Amino acid sequence: MLLRWGDPLSPGLPEFNPDAQSPADQLKRFGYNNDYIAYFPLDGSARGLLCVNHEYTNEELMFPGLKKRQDKSGFGDMTPELVDIEMAAHGVTIVEVARARGRWHPVLDSPYNRRISPSTPMTVDGPAAGDRRLKTSDDRSGLRILGTLNNCAGGKTPWGTYLAAEENFHGYFWTNQCVPGGAPPTGLGGVQSASYKRYGIPGLWQAWGKFIDRFNVDKEPNEPNRFGWIVEIDPLDPDSVPVKHTALGRFCHEGAECIVNTDGRVVVYCGDDGRGEYVYRFVSEGRYDPADRKANMTLLSAGTLSVARFDDDGTVQWLPLEFGRPWLTSDFDFYSQADVAIDARLAADLLGATRMDRPEDVQPNTVTGKVYVMLTNNTKRKEADIDKANPRPDNAFGHIIEMTPSDGDHAAETFTWDMLVKCGDPDIADVGAMWNPETSKDGWFACPDNAAVDKDGRLWIATDQGDSWPRTGRADGLFAMETEGASRGTPKLFFRVPIGAELCGPCFTPDGETMFVAVQHPGADGAEALIGFGRPSTFKDPVTRWPDFEPDMPPRPSVMVITKDGGGKIG
Ligand code: FEO
Ligand code: CA
Ligand code: CA
Repeated sequence: MLLRWGDPLSPGLPEFNPDAQSPADQLKRFGYNNDYIAYFPLDGSARGLLCVNHEYTNEELMFPGLKKRQDKSGFGDMTPELVDIEMAAHGVTIVEVARARGRWHPVLDSPYNRRISPSTPMTVDGPAAGDRRLKTSDDRSGLRILGTLNNCAGGKTPWGTYLAAEENFHGYFWTNQCVPGGAPPTGLGGVQSASYKRYGIPGLWQAWGKFIDRFNVDKEPNEPNRFGWIVEIDPLDPDSVPVKHTALGRFCHEGAECIVNTDGRVVVYCGDDGRGEYVYRFVSEGRYDPADRKANMTLLSAGTLSVARFDDDGTVQWLPLEFGRPWLTSDFDFYSQADVAIDARLAADLLGATRMDRPEDVQPNTVTGKVYVMLTNNTKRKEADIDKANPRPDNAFGHIIEMTPSDGDHAAETFTWDMLVKCGDPDIADVGAMWNPETSKDGWFACPDNAAVDKDGRLWIATDQGDSWPRTGRADGLFAMETEGASRGTPKLFFRVPIGAELCGPCFTPDGETMFVAVQHPGADGAEALIGFGRPSTFKDPVTRWPDFEPDMPPRPSVMVITKDGGGKIG
């Protein structure tokens, strides 16, 4: 166990007391719901910086007396203080970690340790920087944004910076006009109104906008345009100001995995995690220079964003989202590249991209040059809407697509694609799973979410079935899978999470001997379905008290370390 929610990130702090939480205290401690993890070496594989996303909060497990996803019309029990604690538990942690006598520990007196939250000042660059649609009453420039939120997966750049993806940002926005049973927001104007509808804003998942004006779209209609981006953070400079790169488009970004192309341009693959949403690719204008880190830090500021069309003949067409090209003009309410970036989903709709079964991580394999798309599930897909790349109606278990760039060129207009696996129990014919027949009875999985590639090019897949785990009756976990040769498509079970959790962020040290994994929301999902429990899991009455198993401690999202007995490369 390396880091649990509430663990101190500086010396001299008392042990975490969940009954004595405050916003200021939480900002000095490890946040909630750890998701993506990246390791930046300071001394090879013995000492480094760990960057960890804190995606969201489970108020029913964080605070006594609160219910899960309370009544959206009021969030009656939420208070300004609790909202501030929730905000402080979101964002990113940067913490130095080191190995001593075979065990890893956080370095509490490290000058690098830092918490980034939904209140941390950030800048913005790319086509939407300074655009009228990014301006608010607090920021007339449209260039200074407060904070990041719902940071799900992310990425690591070749020049050693961290990318935090902003996923379900729409859920954080509020309107009084909907409370309770009122009309949807009015007076937004044509473009903004279509945009709100397409992005599901305001989502009313959180009560923040009840107390904080900028999260209330009645008061700050442009604030939602300032979220849904990829944020670049320099972990090596604790005073650096994070940058939101609008050139990578605005949508529910799951992750942002990078690869340096054969011609030196940097390619970033992104999934938009929604039912029927798209797979995107960004290709930088400039080229990576290993000797010029400062210049590299502008590579994500300008380039071409494209969206994928998966044709039934096995080709992928990358369709550029460029203002002025057919459809992306004023005739269709796009007046600039800023509009294309802000409303990337609307632009992709017009280009006829393929609606996918919830794209999560899109992971390039630097060993084989192939790219893997995790499609987690989509139970809303109808028989009439299937295509070869999304071949199952009521897709409860997800699948993984393999993309092959033409001649190894990740910037090519056309790739080919193939189905790697279709997930679910291979022994149940109705499931329609597709695995290598060598797959063992415990080897298969459902709902692929995060992915990593090890030194040998093996794919590691973390799963997230959410509340639907009772459909398989199995906990989520981590699976290793070969993608080449006779064992292609044979997963093996490596690690399982406790009840109600998903696994996130599998991350290796450069020597492949240490793996960091994030156990997110233990005790949260689907507790009602657990035979012998069968009721909501709460702070006072959780389905598990993992990992502390102390009578007054609720379950805690935690980052764990895995090493091999006796040392050596994992896998
Ligand atoms: Fe936050 Fe798409 O998982
Ligand atoms: Ca995820
Ligand atoms: Ca997920």
